[in-house]
Amino acid sequence: MIRVLGIETSCDETAASVVALEGGAAPKILSNVVLSQIEEHAAFGGVVPEIAARAHVEALDGIVEAALADSGTALADIDAIAATAGPGLVGGLIVGLMTAKAIAAAAGKPLIAINHLEGHALTARLTDGLEFPYLLLLVSGGHTQILAVRGVGDYQRWATTIDDALGEAFDKTAKMLGLPYPGGPNVEKAAQAGDAARFAFPRPMKGSAQPDFSFSGLKTAVRQAATAIEPLSDQDVADICASFQAAVADALADRVSRALARFSQTFPGTKNPALVVAGGVAANRTIKATLERLCAEAGFTFVAPPLKLCTDNAAMIAWAGIERLRQGMAQENGFDFVPRSRWPLDSISAPMVGSGRRGAKA
Ligand code: KG4
Ligand code: ZN
Repeated sequence: MIRVLGIETSCDETAASVVALEGGAAPKILSNVVLSQIEEHAAFGGVVPEIAARAHVEALDGIVEAALADSGTALADIDAIAATAGPGLVGGLIVGLMTAKAIAAAAGKPLIAINHLEGHALTARLTDGLEFPYLLLLVSGGHTQILAVRGVGDYQRWATTIDDALGEAFDKTAKMLGLPYPGGPNVEKAAQAGDAARFAFPRPMKGSAQPDFSFSGLKTAVRQAATAIEPLSDQDVADICASFQAAVADALADRVSRALARFSQTFPGTKNPALVVAGGVAANRTIKATLERLCAEAGFTFVAPPLKLCTDNAAMIAWAGIERLRQGMAQENGFDFVPRSRWPLDSISAPMVGSGRRGAKA
């Protein structure tokens, strides 16, 4: 039996979790404690790095204690501590990684520094026991990427955003329209009463051969449409939200279908090809339905882990720790690991100009 304590502090969630793996059985999440800082940041319309770091300092001890208590595991029975060491807001990363180092040093346990993106990438193996290779669409407030997941530590980034992350585009659209933070759920809610055909917003990158993303042009189009008809009625806001969401779903469908085709070409023998979706934007029903339809058409299984494991959490970090321990890959990390605010999963892919630099976790 392997039991790993995971710690996650890369953005605005303070989280700790214990995950266990025994023999050939399915892994078990023994505890999964997540404290969201949404209320602390709401007044500012986005995550304020200094406030986030301070809130992590104040909360983390208690969250780790709660995760151990909920799991019914004593620290002495934990096999290793896994902590997010990047990418993310460096203040929060320092708090999480230093706390993890202190706990590991005091308890005489190994420390595994985990890439937050690897946590998202491997979650579908924790929840659905998925076999490699598979395709991952990660759409959150800080990331918009398509990755070919070939093995533990073996990822190819096939697409990224050349400007805003998708969640960021939702959040900025909400802010422009006077909807509260976080924007995504509020845009989706407003869109329900809206007419998606009223505004013909652009479908950025549609038709481009590479599956990369761009959302800043769409954001500008939304701003121009809103400014042109100010003051906005509730119906105007609903129509803009519905038209924005339709443009996003359409653009995503085009980008993802290219990636599905590339996957089939690159891994022709894959028995059960699958697309996994992760990140907060995966909560959006229009987007989910679009992806489900695409997968059905292309003969892919669509895997959407439960939302609390799609958004930031520490179970995915503990699980990544277990995957690394099993592969004998934990030694690469350790106590001298320095937090990395930027840490691409795939060091071979050249960075895109301006890519992801604006997101909270870029
Ligand atoms: O994965 P997550 O919880 O944290 C980050 O890693 O960023 O994702 C948060 C992002 C926010 O930008 C939020 O507006 C967006 O996910 N989001 C949504 C929805 N729920 C959350 N976007 C669109 N529709 C939703 N229902
Ligand atoms: Zn994340």
